[in-house]
Amino acid sequence: MYKKPIIVFEGIEGSGKTTHIKNVLNYLKKKKIKFINLREPGGNKNSELIRKFILNKKSDLHIVSDLLLYLAARNENINKIIKKNYKKKVIIIDRFVDSTIAYQHYGMNISLKFINLINDFLTKDLNIDYTFLNTVSINNLKIRLKKRRNLNKYDTFNSYFYTKVQKGYLKLAKNKKNYLIVNSDKDISLNKKIIINKIEKLIFN
Ligand code: TMP
Repeated sequence: MYKKPIIVFEGIEGSGKTTHIKNVLNYLKKKKIKFINLREPGGNKNSELIRKFILNKKSDLHIVSDLLLYLAARNENINKIIKKNYKKKVIIIDRFVDSTIAYQHYGMNISLKFINLINDFLTKDLNIDYTFLNTVSINNLKIRLKKRRNLNKYDTFNSYFYTKVQKGYLKLAKNKKNYLIVNSDKDISLNKKIIINKIEKLIFN
């Protein structure tokens, strides 16, 4: 038997989340561990439609409309996928509630009280067991975004915005036992080892 935690990967653009998640999924497959993997916004059919609507480069939605759509996409995932698999499979999520606090509150100044109220309502029956917060220097972020062919609406903010968002994330992680900060400016294979070690402990200890 093994544990079936909810594990979230967070971080700003270019912070290496996608690469790390890929490594973790390969590890889980190799160990024959049952898992589901979701991304936010996105995940199920409705949430992927909402993703296209928000992140489309031509979108001119108001920031509070974006917020409500991120939360709607989350609600679809929670009710259609996460609750069904909770404690039955390992659940790996690419962005979750902390993304909303970091981007919509720390980045865009929308009320934290309002965001927490809805996030808490949506996640009241769930426990996020562990969060890997991936960080990146603004210099590397710029280099990595330049290499991306398809930039979405949220890939084109200025450095000041991403700095605010990353600082917000670091505040959320401060002094918390169930967060690990992964500095993606450091050696990628070393980070991979650190993450897989932690995943092993979360599942088998
Ligand atoms: P990504 O899937 O490529 O990381 O892009 C998703 C974008 O959406 C990213 O810029 C972060 C943003 N986002 C929010 O602003 N609030 C949220 O609640 C979530 C889940 C994502």
